[in-house]
Amino acid sequence: MAAGRTADLDPGPGTGPRTGRGTGSGAELRRAVAALRRGGLVGMPTETVYGLAADADDADAIRRIFAAKGRPADHPLIVHIGGAAQLDDWAVDVPAAARALAEALWPGPLTLLLARGPRVLDVVTGGLPTVGLRVPAHPVALRLLRDFGGGLAAPSANRFGRVSPTSAADVRSELGDAVDVVLDGGPATIGVESTIVDLSSGDPVVLRPGGVPRERLAELLGVAVPVAGPQAPARASGMLAAHYAPTAAVVLVDGPPATSGVATGLLAPAGVPTPAGMLRVASPESADDYARQLYAALRAADRAGLRVLYAVPPQPRGLGLAVRDRLRRAAVGSGGGDHTVRDP
Ligand code: TXA
Ligand code: MG
Repeated sequence: MAAGRTADLDPGPGTGPRTGRGTGSGAELRRAVAALRRGGLVGMPTETVYGLAADADDADAIRRIFAAKGRPADHPLIVHIGGAAQLDDWAVDVPAAARALAEALWPGPLTLLLARGPRVLDVVTGGLPTVGLRVPAHPVALRLLRDFGGGLAAPSANRFGRVSPTSAADVRSELGDAVDVVLDGGPATIGVESTIVDLSSGDPVVLRPGGVPRERLAELLGVAVPVAGPQAPARASGMLAAHYAPTAAVVLVDGPPATSGVATGLLAPAGVPTPAGMLRVASPESADDYARQLYAALRAADRAGLRVLYAVPPQPRGLGLAVRDRLRRAAVGSGGGDHTVRDP
């Protein structure tokens, strides 16, 4: 890129990954179901990010997930189910608040942490007494769950600590041949992971902000739902201080930096101007748009060989809270240092 000129990777409004949701052909779905029955791994599209799915009742298959991701064995997996009617197959002592949230928000980007039932394998929960359950809102995932007939344990389909995949091509580039079948469901329409709500002990707490805004939970439950502090909970990789990290150092800023060094880029809401010489990786027009574009923008920064990516986060409302959370962890994980931007 010539110095003094502003390059632009941003596709502009209206061309973002909003449409083109594939359906996964019948033949591909049959191959995926056969792979799951053999204990194999399937790249599964969801509305949040792509998952790396295996039969939740097959301990060897679950171990393959951990090996493929390079993920420590004590980081538990979410079990994906086909509908709220299956809640009691996996969880016990399900409180009324959990049923209310499931009723209102499933299928959707909500994971409920509940006391685990006897069916849940230790390898899935890392020995924890709780299990995370979610019904994904993607037609291909729902067909896969229906045709397979059981639960699917699935973390995001990225190498441990790296950027989550929002397309089938991302899954292949993260995991290559470690995954047996990748179903192409088009670009993820939400773009950040599910909101995790702990309902296993007393009052609901958000353990990970995500695709369901905290405001919506409060509306449904009639109480404000706090977000757990950075020190809690013990074993949730998505809650590690360093995660979702590209190779470029992510540096959080309140506005466009005054100077641009060599190989620097900017990720910022539309309306924030791009300093001369800086590569613009995305210009989201809303918090939802920011969520949708976030991970693709981090990948684009790496493909462009950026050394430093400056990021101006969205306001902490709606999906903006989840985007800020991911950007902070990307900043720490990429060596971009601690953040200047904190939530109230
Ligand atoms: O949107 C999503 O939730 C995606 C899609 C594929 O469904 N999945 C996802 O999974 O983000 P994963 O494994 O990348 O992140 C799940 C997070 C991890 O931080 C994990 O440690 C935490 O949830 N988790 C799962 N079960 C838990 C449990 N029983 N107690 C505490 N944390 C749990
Ligand atoms: Mg993950």
